[in-house]
Amino acid sequence: MKTIIEPFKIKSVEPINFTTREQRVRILQEAFYNPFLIHADNVLIDLLTDSGTSAMSAKQWSGMMDGDESYAGSRSYFRFEQTIRSLTGFNHIIPTHQGRAAEKILFSVVGGQGKFIPNNTHFDTTRANVEFSGAVAVDLPTPEGKQPALRADFKGNMDLDALRKFIEQAGPANIPLCMMTVTNNSGGGQPVSLSNIRATKQLLQEYGIPLFLDACRFAENAFFIKKREPGYAQKSVEEIAREMFSYADGCTMSAKKDALVNMGGFLAMNNDEWARQARNLLIVTEGFTTYGGLAGRDLEAIAQGLTEILDEHYLTYRIRSVEYLGEKLTNAGVPIVQPPGGHAIYLDAKAFAPHIPQHEYPGQAIVCALYEKGGIRCVEIGSVMFGTYGPDGKLISPMMELVRLAIPRRVYTQSHIDYVAEVVQEVYAERERLRGFRIVEEAPMLRHFTAKFAPL
Ligand code: F0G
Repeated sequence: MKTIIEPFKIKSVEPINFTTREQRVRILQEAFYNPFLIHADNVLIDLLTDSGTSAMSAKQWSGMMDGDESYAGSRSYFRFEQTIRSLTGFNHIIPTHQGRAAEKILFSVVGGQGKFIPNNTHFDTTRANVEFSGAVAVDLPTPEGKQPALRADFKGNMDLDALRKFIEQAGPANIPLCMMTVTNNSGGGQPVSLSNIRATKQLLQEYGIPLFLDACRFAENAFFIKKREPGYAQKSVEEIAREMFSYADGCTMSAKKDALVNMGGFLAMNNDEWARQARNLLIVTEGFTTYGGLAGRDLEAIAQGLTEILDEHYLTYRIRSVEYLGEKLTNAGVPIVQPPGGHAIYLDAKAFAPHIPQHEYPGQAIVCALYEKGGIRCVEIGSVMFGTYGPDGKLISPMMELVRLAIPRRVYTQSHIDYVAEVVQEVYAERERLRGFRIVEEAPMLRHFTAKFAPL
């Protein structure tokens, strides 16, 4: 087989800034060892997120020029609505400025005190919006999804036995809907199988509970189904995506991922009454129903991006480029979540730096070392992001301590990825030297964005 190449050529480039190691030591100190507080100009390769960092295509940029900026009834809205309706089959398509705005509106409508929202694994903003409404967010991943080194095809799946037990315990009347995150971001960017989506839907139907997809990375998930799930090799990714949505009653979507745009999102559903309430909230918080916090040009770019994302040459390159980084690291003995996910490589920080206890944030130590060594920015997904405190004030850590190297879409070339692999290997070779951190300042919710750290 020949090398899988980037299925595009580059028309416009953006220089990246080089810094010295001495400069980076100072920059880290000034940013209180939190990558979110580093100026992007001081980052060489930015793997903080794959969200809103995609390179848009020439067609998307020309669509932006063509966007209709009418306040109401914009032509771009109707193209956006038509594209999403034809892909998802949902009746109500509600534009929002990004994924969390869709979540905020959805859970304001269905959440609240005494309610429970199960999910394979909530992303942090989803959990925050569920909890902000007064409801309880419950993660029900399968046991194999919790073992970083274990190789399995669909580690993003929902644990169906646990879901049934949970519904019986909490009572179906207290569960307004069940979410399913595809791919499962916080669980390592791992896909969910179609049979798991179908079985989840069937189970929920017994109790009359609707299923909503958190569809940010639906195309990457669909591509994994094509490659890994028996019976789907001959189907197009588009057909698979349609089947995924066919089992759902609605979705939230951050268009900043698999719609290949820098800003945007939507909430879609079939329930007329919820949609009516959602549109009322939209008007108060986001904007009129045909733009919802976006410009006409953004709607145009999303519609175009949603067609480009289903291109199988693109998805072949996309999934291969993440897997390529994973292979290089695995061959060098670096512990990562196996197999590589769709949008990111997750380093297993517990295995990488076993000498640092969880309450000293081993993932944060690796994040800082990668920046200091090579100007690479990434993010901790472990005790910093998901840690909470017990009544005794002691840190309660999540099961996994991960460091995410998220790969922006269509942005970096193979040599950038080679460089990343080299830097990670160098840090791994010197891992005994890594030291933990303590938090000196933090916010009550989503603390990872603003927390300040001091090295131990
Ligand atoms: N759901 C999932 C699974 C996500 O990954 C994200 C964002 C959201 C919802 C919220 O969307 O950012 O548009 O408001 N994830 C980004 C990340 C931030 O880095 O993984 P948003």
